[in-house]
Amino acid sequence: MSQIKKVRGFQDIYGKNAKKYRFVVETARRIFEDYNFSEIILPYVEDVSLFVRTVGEETDIVQKEMYVFEDRGGRKVALRPEGTASAVRAYIEEGLYAKGGYQKLFYEGAMFRYERPQAGRYRQFHQIGAEIFGVDTPLSDAELIKMVKDILDQLGIQTRLEINTLGDFESRKKYIEVLRNFLKERKDLLCEDCKRRIERNPLRVLDCKVESCKEATTDAPVLIDYISDQSLQRFEKLKEYLKAMGISFIFNPRLVRGLDYYTDTVFEFITDKIGAQGTVAAGGRYDTLVKQLGGPDTPALGFAAGIERLMLLVEKLPDEKDLVVVIPVVSEFNIEGLKIADRLRKKGIKTELILKEGSLKSKMKLANKIGGRFVVFASENPELKDMETGEQERFENAEDLIDVLAEKVLRT
Ligand code: HAM
Repeated sequence: MSQIKKVRGFQDIYGKNAKKYRFVVETARRIFEDYNFSEIILPYVEDVSLFVRTVGEETDIVQKEMYVFEDRGGRKVALRPEGTASAVRAYIEEGLYAKGGYQKLFYEGAMFRYERPQAGRYRQFHQIGAEIFGVDTPLSDAELIKMVKDILDQLGIQTRLEINTLGDFESRKKYIEVLRNFLKERKDLLCEDCKRRIERNPLRVLDCKVESCKEATTDAPVLIDYISDQSLQRFEKLKEYLKAMGISFIFNPRLVRGLDYYTDTVFEFITDKIGAQGTVAAGGRYDTLVKQLGGPDTPALGFAAGIERLMLLVEKLPDEKDLVVVIPVVSEFNIEGLKIADRLRKKGIKTELILKEGSLKSKMKLANKIGGRFVVFASENPELKDMETGEQERFENAEDLIDVLAEKVLRT
């Protein structure tokens, strides 16, 4: 019979990679909690129009990358391609704006985009992300960026931070007209999608991944020359804060992000170490989105990081606990093995009880193979073997052995 393979762009994450996955998520969760964010667990499936109205009709995500299907009740739904839209929907739908609007949420989990798979780019990938609702100060931009930096630092990941401002809605409108005129002159050089985008959403052309489009727009007018004084001032303030916190950054006037909802500050943390898919974390402000989705007028900002990309950059995992292997000696039905393993685990000691039948020799071989640091030969008079030094000691009872062992493995 033919073997069934995993679907293209989907992955099994196991062994050391699963450890890296957990390390990334746990590190981020700890920092989210230290910054007093609370968790929101969002659905994987949403009404398709949620993403059309937030991420934007002309974006690659909505145009080409969403997993859209009709459920058995005839609803048109999508597997979520990102988390912000759902967080905003929940903020409105669950009335999370009740206590003055201020709310800090984080989330974690799978996202789905039908992109061309390559290193660091998958069709099911995982994000950690956070959103802050109800503040519009540049201080909030600075704190969010600092939190992302803290996560990257804790993971031992070095990146460069690029920032830009997209200005407020009004000033962007002015710029879009200028850009549209510029693009009209270069129309012949653009891909079919971008030709259409000139009228419908010219900003998206600056984010197109097609090489000829990138080339045709290298000398395009830049947004910062058209934004309001107020937006410029808040951008200056943000830069001051970042400097004061010792966070270095690069101003990239071409950074527009691939989603439509952003206003003012946008940022990306980028690395050159993992090939073309170098953006590990990204985000920005979206001050008009809550209102646009039918909620109260609420400024907001957030970020998300790709867990798989962070995993590619994590070099060192925290030290692991020593493994203790318990071998029941007399026979497989020797209850002492079960009892000792149970007591060790209750003390927080990582314990593998050998469950297979076989000779003592074969069990020792297995203990070695799985990396046992200590072996306990479980019987009425148990013995403890240190696999590094080869020393072996016999005990009167299990109690004494467990005390000595705990002292050795829980020493740190
Ligand atoms: P995004 O830039 O689309 O933003 O995605 C954020 C991060 O998710 C990327 O920087 C990357 O690390 C990771 N990522 C995206 N697509 C893939 C993929 N196909 N395979 C692997 N990793 C991927 C957002 O999703 C926004 N919701 C961020 C945000 C939150 N803005 C405000 N709040």
